[in-house]
Amino acid sequence: MTRILAIESSCDETSAAVCQDGKILSNVVSSQIQHSKYGGVIPELASRLHQQKIVAVVSMALEKAEIDQKELDAISFTRGPGLLGALLVGTCFAKTYALGLGIPLIDVDHMQAHVLANFLQKTPPEFPFICLTVSGGHTQLVLVKDYLDMEILGQTIDDAAGEAFDKAAKIMGLPYPGGPQIDRNAKTGNIRFYDFPTPRIGKYEFSFSGIKTSLLYLLKRNLKTNPDYISQNLSDICASYQHRIITILLNKLAVAVEEYGVKDVAIAGGVSANSYLRTKFREMCESKGWRAHIPAFQFCTDNAGMIAIAGYYKHLAGKHTDLYVTPFTRSK
Ligand code: KG4
Ligand code: ZN
Repeated sequence: MTRILAIESSCDETSAAVCQDGKILSNVVSSQIQHSKYGGVIPELASRLHQQKIVAVVSMALEKAEIDQKELDAISFTRGPGLLGALLVGTCFAKTYALGLGIPLIDVDHMQAHVLANFLQKTPPEFPFICLTVSGGHTQLVLVKDYLDMEILGQTIDDAAGEAFDKAAKIMGLPYPGGPQIDRNAKTGNIRFYDFPTPRIGKYEFSFSGIKTSLLYLLKRNLKTNPDYISQNLSDICASYQHRIITILLNKLAVAVEEYGVKDVAIAGGVSANSYLRTKFREMCESKGWRAHIPAFQFCTDNAGMIAIAGYYKHLAGKHTDLYVTPFTRSK
């Protein structure tokens, strides 16, 4: 039996999880709501809050899993990408814990872990498959050949999809994180209210900064004559903005799936929690005869459960790291 304790601290979620033979026994997530009023994550505040929370979060994860620390076989942790100070807290904690217990340490790539969250589902995808990974910092089309063998086919050349949601929310005076706010408001809105632009770029490239600028100009233009323009049209603006982003994501995903001829298709990352994306993704896969895979809601946004499953596969492959390992901030 293999038991792994996992730690995630790359951004604004302090999380710990325990998995046993690839099954999650506990997944504790403490979200730093303190950033909400700033419209984004304040890096220094994030690392301090990780420091304050990490001991309690790890204890709770062990307690919920009903596992004693002496029963652990390895510790996995998010090495990157993420905020340096935030990553350092998890990295130092994981190193110290592994050293104290005399067990192996496993470094995990956060973006690979998002993809592998799909293996926490009852029916996991079959290799090879294509995964659209959409988070606050990344937008990637990934060809997944095996658990630890992934090829990035394309990514964003400017803002990430989640960032486009967060920045739009900030412009409209909604709190951080903006994705869930826009998702909620869009539910009753008209997707045809405003025609946001589709960027003309490479086949597998993404760009969202033009859409965000287009929103900014739309608001500026209308607020001049109507100061209540945002509140009067919020659901329609959110619906049409969200519709454009999700349509771009799904169209590019479809091109990749057709070109690579795979039958299994997945989404992952914080934006995969978006209700419109989940619905449209399922509809697209059904109409094309593809098998759709979406992580459970709790494994879409940042969580240590995905770091545990990624750590499990690395452990099986004997891929451990040494105590001199340092975090990396940008995608590898
Ligand atoms: O994966 P994640 O938790 O953290 C990163 O690795 O970045 O993703 C966070 C992102 C944020 O930009 C947040 O606004 C977005 O995921 N997000 C959503 C939804 N829930 C979270 N975006 C759209 N709709 C949602 N329901
Ligand atoms: Zn993430």
